[in-house]
Amino acid sequence: MDKTIAVIGVGKLGGTLCSALVERGVLAPEQLVGTTAHPASAERAAAQLGIRVLTDNKEAVKEADLIVLAVKPQGMGQVLEELGPVIRPEQLVLTLAAAVTTRFVEDALATGVPVLRAMPNLPALIGKGMTVLCAGRRAGPVHVALAREIFAAVGQVAEIDSEDLMDAATGLSGSGPAYGYIIIESLAEGGVKAGLRRSLATTMAAQAILGAAAMVLETGQHPALLKDMVTTPAGTTVNGLMALEEGNIRVALIKAVEAATAKAKELSR
Ligand SMILES: NC(=O)c1ccc[n+]([C@@H]2O[C@H](COP(=O)([O-])OP(=O)(O)OC[C@H]3O[C@@H](n4cnc5c(N)ncnc54)[C@H](OP(=O)(O)O)[C@@H]3O)[C@@H](O)[C@H]2O)c1
Repeated sequence: MDKTIAVIGVGKLGGTLCSALVERGVLAPEQLVGTTAHPASAERAAAQLGIRVLTDNKEAVKEADLIVLAVKPQGMGQVLEELGPVIRPEQLVLTLAAAVTTRFVEDALATGVPVLRAMPNLPALIGKGMTVLCAGRRAGPVHVALAREIFAAVGQVAEIDSEDLMDAATGLSGSGPAYGYIIIESLAEGGVKAGLRRSLATTMAAQAILGAAAMVLETGQHPALLKDMVTTPAGTTVNGLMALEEGNIRVALIKAVEAATAKAKELSR
């Protein structure tokens, strides 16, 4: 890619994005510049990522084609106040902060600056993330294609048309890994109850979920059909499934997504 990128806030997510882009050969280290709030973390991040890291946001965005805003949501107001007057319409702004709308970012910038919003999730840290993108009012297909290329470095990418659905993406995709961890932890607990060593039970539980998820993605089959493939008549699995249904697992998971979506909506208001 022949672009230069400034990542404002090379913390966990911003830093991961930078190292993934370099490791995958999408960008050379010289095409990236990062910033942090404190000189000590800038020094640490520069050594760890092998890129230039400053504490001067204005200086960092000067030469950038693309500006990634990767600070915490509560720090966005201050960063936008600082960068609003200097970001130009030929630059593209990509915001990663949860619950911060494209309109909020657009309103802080000069007229004509294109803005895209991205909601990645935690497994992006190991290249297995899910990033959901949505375009602001001034961003077009070229900008979306650029953002897709960037986030492909840390996992799968999908685009949604309506920003209202970003709250649902937050409730499902953003929070989803936490639901997965509860399921894995509980399955492992069941294994321990049945006599397995905890570490082995955890590996077995995580691999079962990983394998099940990979089959959904790789075969494209409906999960119900795959579940039927495991469920032998009068076998063991059907007994396990009955226990899950008694525990109301479906309703519990549906409600989890619904509740997290509602909270995301409340925060982005
Ligand atoms: N982590 C995830 O899985 C995830 C998933 C989806 C979305 N997000 C979003 O990604 C954003 C970053 O999350 P994170 O987990 O990566 O946070 P983080 O690890 O706390 O990193 C935040 C970074 O921003 C820097 N920073 C703070 N204020 C700054 C300023 N005024 N100018 C320049 N840099 C500044 C911090 O520098 P210092 O270290 O010097 O303070 C730090 O490097 C958040 O908005 C979050 O909502 C994260």
